Amino acid sequence: MSKPVVLIAEELSPATVEALGPDFEIRRCNGADRAELLDAIREADAILIRSATRVDAEAIAAAGRLRVVARAGVGLDNVDVSAATKAGVMVVNAPTSNIVTAAELACGLILATARNIPQANAALKNGEWKRSRYTGVELSEKTLGVVGLGRIGVLVAQRMSAFGMKVVAYDPYVQPARAAQMGVKLLSLDELLTVSDFITVHLPKTPETLGLIGDEALHKVKPDVRIINAARGGIVDEAALHSAIKEGRVAGAGLDVFAVEPCTDSPLFEFDTVVATPHLGASTGEAQEKAGVAVARSVRLALAGELVPDA
Ligand code: MLT
Repeated sequence: MSKPVVLIAEELSPATVEALGPDFEIRRCNGADRAELLDAIREADAILIRSATRVDAEAIAAAGRLRVVARAGVGLDNVDVSAATKAGVMVVNAPTSNIVTAAELACGLILATARNIPQANAALKNGEWKRSRYTGVELSEKTLGVVGLGRIGVLVAQRMSAFGMKVVAYDPYVQPARAAQMGVKLLSLDELLTVSDFITVHLPKTPETLGLIGDEALHKVKPDVRIINAARGGIVDEAALHSAIKEGRVAGAGLDVFAVEPCTDSPLFEFDTVVATPHLGASTGEAQEKAGVAVARSVRLALAGELVPDA
């Protein structure tokens, strides 16, 4: 009897294949290549992805015998969950696998934008010893506005409190008492925008959050604010951010995610005060191993017809 086919559509930790075990035929494709994906998914019983593969209604319709879509990460915005559900395809993810790693990257971007670390590094390696040009700002006593006090937002708040930052947050789903236990003051979004020296976004991408930090919001911020987005591209509107930096209404930004990825060319890259990374939020060996092992386990259970517990 032939083994069920597990299609790995993106680079995953080697621990993923180990955790799948010997009972499956492992195939690989480049999920970012649409034609390759639509061809390879036809014979797949399960597909394993990260954020570069769009498993939308078209991909699900192309799949002849797909039973599981497994996302080795937190977000599900690149999967059409309702089309999958209608087709009887289970969707699983690894919701806690990379939260520490993602929070650490956001903290890194806060530090990088405060102290111009990547810019100074690039200049020095280019033979320039420019100490005054890269004078930064202290984090201690500054206000960090966390937009979205979920699992990752909380970790960022805790870590940045250790730098002496005052942390405020906007999250309509969190009780003020719960936030107060963490030393975080809950504010309305407008209040947060007006008091924060750094704003970091930790929200899923939904129709409600898309463009949330857009032109209107960026007209309410302090002129020396730095905006960090290591959540999802598009939550911070890139055109609005560009105008705000150009007009001196925002001092800088740390961006790990973009509305369209891969993004190798953006008008935002013209600013020295923008620190950009290529969607590295989940990219540590530890997080990738945890995510890979978690989804491999879910795929094994689902293909065996067993209950898949919440990760
Ligand atoms: C996630 O949603 O967990 C990450 O975006 C995963 C990834 O980096 O592919």
